[in-house]
Amino acid sequence: CRVVVLISGSGSNLQAIIDQCHGRQGVEIVGVISNKPDAYGLVRAHHGEINTSCVIARKGEKRAEYDARLVAAIEAYQPDLVVLAGFMRILTEGFVNRYLGRMLNIHPSLLPKFTGLDTHQRAIDAGETEHGASVHFVTPELDAGPVILQAKVPVYEGDDATVLAERVHEQEHAIYPLVVKWFAAGRLKMRDELAYLDGEQI
Ligand code: GRF
Repeated sequence: CRVVVLISGSGSNLQAIIDQCHGRQGVEIVGVISNKPDAYGLVRAHHGEINTSCVIARKGEKRAEYDARLVAAIEAYQPDLVVLAGFMRILTEGFVNRYLGRMLNIHPSLLPKFTGLDTHQRAIDAGETEHGASVHFVTPELDAGPVILQAKVPVYEGDDATVLAERVHEQEHAIYPLVVKWFAAGRLKMRDELAYLDGEQI
């Protein structure tokens, strides 16, 4: 399975996928694409001897124009799977539909709770006792695609967003590589906005 990973920042999830499945179990990360030229994830990719590209938004560029350039960069790698790993851009419907059923995202909350940004602080403010991360198929509605796998963490009294984010991150690094392996093994499908593992609806 040829995998392209899209990043904007640190790329710790990219690192987890490199460490746990790159070059193994049918997973080959063929490219890493960033919208930020200084994303640390690009350094991680270079250390892993993985090709990289940057697609940087131009001043005044429309979303559709940017996404068209992003498609061109992705298609250069001929991937079977697109993995969003901290890619901090909202994608157009046309882009998402092009990769429907073959694009994954990880979101730092127990979806459907806390879509969007700032999830850790919002979970603390809401008095949640549990929080976590979700891997899901990407559909046009933001953070609303079918969930494949979640990991839960406790929220302790006195937690701040940084501490909680760290606890969640650790879990992200366990679940994202696992889901990528499932996809590569052909075990994971999306049909009518529902996710299936080994033919069973999740
Ligand atoms: C993660 O918290 C992920 O859930 C969110 O963006 C962050 C990316 O972190 N989508 P990293 O760049 O993988 O370290």
